[in-house]
Amino acid sequence: TSRKPIIAIDGPAGAGKSTVTKRVAHKLGLLFLDTGAMYRSITLAVLREGLDLRNQEQVTAIANASKIQLFNNPVAEQPMRVLLNGEDITTAIRSPEVTANVSAIAAQPAVRAILVKQQQAIGANGGVVMEGRDIGTHVFPDAEVKIFLTASAKERANRRYADLIAQGQIPPDLTTLEHEISERDRQDSTRTHAPLTQAANATLVNTDGLSIDEVVATIINLYEEKVQQP
Ligand code: CDP
Ligand code: CDP
Repeated sequence: TSRKPIIAIDGPAGAGKSTVTKRVAHKLGLLFLDTGAMYRSITLAVLREGLDLRNQEQVTAIANASKIQLFNNPVAEQPMRVLLNGEDITTAIRSPEVTANVSAIAAQPAVRAILVKQQQAIGANGGVVMEGRDIGTHVFPDAEVKIFLTASAKERANRRYADLIAQGQIPPDLTTLEHEISERDRQDSTRTHAPLTQAANATLVNTDGLSIDEVVATIINLYEEKVQQP
């Protein structure tokens, strides 16, 4: 193919996907895409309409009517800015309510079909680090580099706890956070359509006890092995 390389990073919540993806993209001069932000955007739109999340017909209509725009600046390593029908929802999609309901929306095949098509269009020319749950298995099964990033539920809960404090929020206790994370893992891993799973040819990176810099270096090394010295 003539497209530039793609790095696919999949894994459960709190494994470090967003943080690491941004840094890797910055270092390699690639774009990054947080596909979870797209599922969160549809979830926010559905919640605002007050719809029953399980009503697939209505949810699909909302997904079709939602224009999601994603902007990133890998040079500045900023978080991705997200617009929904022109409105900035960058902060709104991180609310506990969206987080609690996103897996139910992401389990719906029609929603996935709509968003995967957009993700494939964004990555059509390559040159992107894309993170989510099914990038290496479904969105870009031919990605040059595939990483399955993980960490224990306890470690991931600790990270979320620290993130919430750093954002000036009052976190729930650690046991509750760990339970919420495990419940989302369970829903994402057991759904019928494109569940969270390690692609056969993905490299497993367990980030327990690793620094962000160590994880970034591991991924860049893999990229150099696979792409720059074929
Ligand atoms: O940032 P965090 O790890 O909490 O989650 P996220 O990446 O924002 O993803 C939110 C949710 O979207 C996940 O729990 C999945 O249910 C869904 N998702 C998905 O199904 N497929 C993707 N490629 C990305 C996210
Ligand atoms: O996107 P995902 O939900 O997989 O994780 P994230 O939103 O990037 O959050 C990971 C959190 O763990 C951030 O606060 C990072 O600073 C921290 N962290 C990490 O990402 N990687 C490590 N090896 C250690 C800590």
